[in-house]
Amino acid sequence: MSEQVYIDGAWRKPASGETIPVVCPSDGKVFAHIARGGAKDIDAAVQAARRAFEGPWGKTTALERGRLMMKVGEKITQHAEELAQIEARDTGKPLKQARADMVAAARYFEFYGAAADKVHGDVVPFLAGYTVLVKHEPRGVTGHIIPWNYPAQMFGRTLAPTLACGNTAVLKPAEEACLAALRITELAHEVGFPAGVINVVPGYGEEAGAALANHPGIDFIAFTGSPGVGVLIQKASAEHLRPCVLELGGKSPQIVFEDANLEAVLPVVTNAIVQNAGQTCSAGSRVLVQRSIYDRFIGMLVERFAKLRVGSHDMDLECGPLISAGQRDRVQGFVRAAKAEGIPILAEAKLAPGLPAGGYYAPPMLFGPVPSTNQLAREEVFGPVLSAIPFDDEADAIRIANGTPYGLAAGIWSIDGSRALRVANAMRCGQVFVNGYGAGGGIELPFGGIKKSGHGREKGLEALREFSVIKTIVINHG
Ligand code: NAI
Ligand code: MG
Repeated sequence: MSEQVYIDGAWRKPASGETIPVVCPSDGKVFAHIARGGAKDIDAAVQAARRAFEGPWGKTTALERGRLMMKVGEKITQHAEELAQIEARDTGKPLKQARADMVAAARYFEFYGAAADKVHGDVVPFLAGYTVLVKHEPRGVTGHIIPWNYPAQMFGRTLAPTLACGNTAVLKPAEEACLAALRITELAHEVGFPAGVINVVPGYGEEAGAALANHPGIDFIAFTGSPGVGVLIQKASAEHLRPCVLELGGKSPQIVFEDANLEAVLPVVTNAIVQNAGQTCSAGSRVLVQRSIYDRFIGMLVERFAKLRVGSHDMDLECGPLISAGQRDRVQGFVRAAKAEGIPILAEAKLAPGLPAGGYYAPPMLFGPVPSTNQLAREEVFGPVLSAIPFDDEADAIRIANGTPYGLAAGIWSIDGSRALRVANAMRCGQVFVNGYGAGGGIELPFGGIKKSGHGREKGLEALREFSVIKTIVINHG
């Protein structure tokens, strides 16, 4: 199955007849192939999705849709270990991370499956003799382009809410990693979705991705990935005058005030940058530390970083390899530039002995103090590189925290509740955690960015608004 595209309820060879090799980041070796889908396959998928929308899927009740989705959640849970093994090998992430990802992937289908029949509208008071109904209707055919960092989770995050709303979908997963998403597609097929409701066309971004983004037959597109491609998606959406939701990563700060419980902060701040080898849109890639505790807390972080171990996915240590040689080169580019500018390296984790030579390993690193104007403090590295930045007071912390082109997430650490709330309110971003951090599991929590982090909201009940459209029905009954 993995070398085919899934269109109109069946697996078939892509029109190109070609495949794309799938590399395991732990050893750099090809271990599978996926289909090289392209414009023809995307076109067939969009047509199938349109037929399903206008046909059987449009006639299903919200309850029926929800039940099917709950079954996908169950299937993912039943196959969680198999899926986690696939995901770990495909992305290089440690097995425990892949296992956590499958819990989240299942949760997306459960959460939105249970929500499908609770998308209620309104009745609006109007003139005498009128009744006005406000309904949430599906948009139609939605397009989805997802990245390689959390293939299974992203599949659930983007597809579950759109299906709950009654749309049909065409999804283009990432060429670097999508085997678990393809396996979940098979599981969704088994639970009995009508043909054409879910279509999955793997392929290169410039081919299948661009064809989907530019296709006149879709009504909406959801994209997660780089800002550069986000611009292309938005331009293509503009050409067709249709909306999009873009989630483009960030440079999220962790703000540690002098009264914080540092023992509690330490593991969370460390994990926020090491999880998934830093390849997480909401990675906590800057740690802002109040000057009065800067040396003490940095000392604790240095000790912690020194103990981190980097290994292959099946060694299941704290940190795995990066997704590709290209991504490793990109991260090393940031590291070289920072070194050249004389930014001190405070800590560098060790690679476990005996790692396969061909893997894309990059050790977690802590730099500091990083000038808040430096690219290391402003640009998304998408690797396990943490920038430490001292600050003087609350106003200084807010200024630095908001001083990047991004605005996705932030963490605030303080036992002064009033201060934490003041700073949370001042954050120019889409999600703020107080005395905790971690966007990952929070299916219930609306998520998305402002500024270059993108726009629109996924997750939580907000996603149901994104994937539906309001219709107002005005009835003059006298
Ligand atoms: P990317 O934005 O190129 O890839 C994301 C998805 O977009 C993939 O499915 C890809 O095939 C597709 N795509 C690529 N070019 C396209 C095009 N012209 N038209 C339509 N779809 C297209 O990201 P890439 O190259 O994998 O990573 C580069 C950087 O992007 C990373 O270093 C990271 O900073 C950022 N990124 C952020 C993510 C996030 O979760 N916010 C996820 C992946 C990457
Ligand atoms: Mg790219």
